[in-house]
Amino acid sequence: MKEVIVIAHRGASGERPEHTLESYRVAIEQGADYIEPDLVMTRDGVLIARHENEIGGTTDVADHPRFADRRRTQVIDGETMTGWFTEDFTLAEIKTLRARERLPDLRPRNTSFDGRLEVPTFEEILDLADAENRRRGDGGARLGVYPETKHPAHFRALGLALEPPLLAALERHRCGAGGARVFIQSFDPVNLRMLRGMTKLPLVQLLEHEFGDLREVARRADAIGIAKALATADAVRAAHAAGLAVHVWTFRAENEFLPPDLRVGAGAGDHGRLEEEIERYLHDGIDGFFTDFPSIGVRARDQARR
Ligand code: G3P
Ligand code: CA
Repeated sequence: MKEVIVIAHRGASGERPEHTLESYRVAIEQGADYIEPDLVMTRDGVLIARHENEIGGTTDVADHPRFADRRRTQVIDGETMTGWFTEDFTLAEIKTLRARERLPDLRPRNTSFDGRLEVPTFEEILDLADAENRRRGDGGARLGVYPETKHPAHFRALGLALEPPLLAALERHRCGAGGARVFIQSFDPVNLRMLRGMTKLPLVQLLEHEFGDLREVARRADAIGIAKALATADAVRAAHAAGLAVHVWTFRAENEFLPPDLRVGAGAGDHGRLEEEIERYLHDGIDGFFTDFPSIGVRARDQARR
């Protein structure tokens, strides 16, 4: 039977503030096959894990008077954004901040961790993965990392290209070569073409709205990471025919993110029947999925194996 991988989306982000070592640690404990850091860059060229380079939404930066004058407005990938941006901070400054729950209304329990957890570097995440793989020893399946390049064109224009330090870090930790398993993902086809010329590690084209020409996608990627709305059985078959594995995002337990027939209770943050939702997609032959709740993901995957 083929392996279906469970990817811990931003760590166990349903249960801890996203993109913190604690979030990744819980994901590993829950049996995730891969942990997923989204990557952006500091002013001094260090890769850190954040979903976007604007950090007002997921850290306490607004509470630091000495950083008040760093707040600004800029256009990133065609979108006007106002806030505090990682490229304006050194790593030492980033390390004075603490993470905050992105979705406090839906995930109020996670706010008890607000103010306690640092923004991790990619290096620290790879160290965590290495420690887990050492613990497993030679016999066990390798824990994997599934990094995503965020705003690669923006950072390249600033002279802070993400790709060289990303690949150097993966090589240093022997990822894909005896160390952690790895997939590198991006929404940006230009970024993937660039990476294709730089590494033999498996690449994933993220797609949200449409597939385009899958044979063309297969020239720059080994897999597609697709939004749930795109993941029909026909689409999975077509991707497989083009030689692409299919990973689906993002599975979340809260009613807010579930189809109406799987919701339980009235609150948007109440948990519904996520396991059943995942089972529907497993039935269509997907090769992996991203979830904020790795424990539920592992249970659903293992149940479907039987
Ligand atoms: O990387 C897969 C999925 O995470 C893409 O969405 O916005 O959560 O990075 P996002
Ligand atoms: Ca991501």
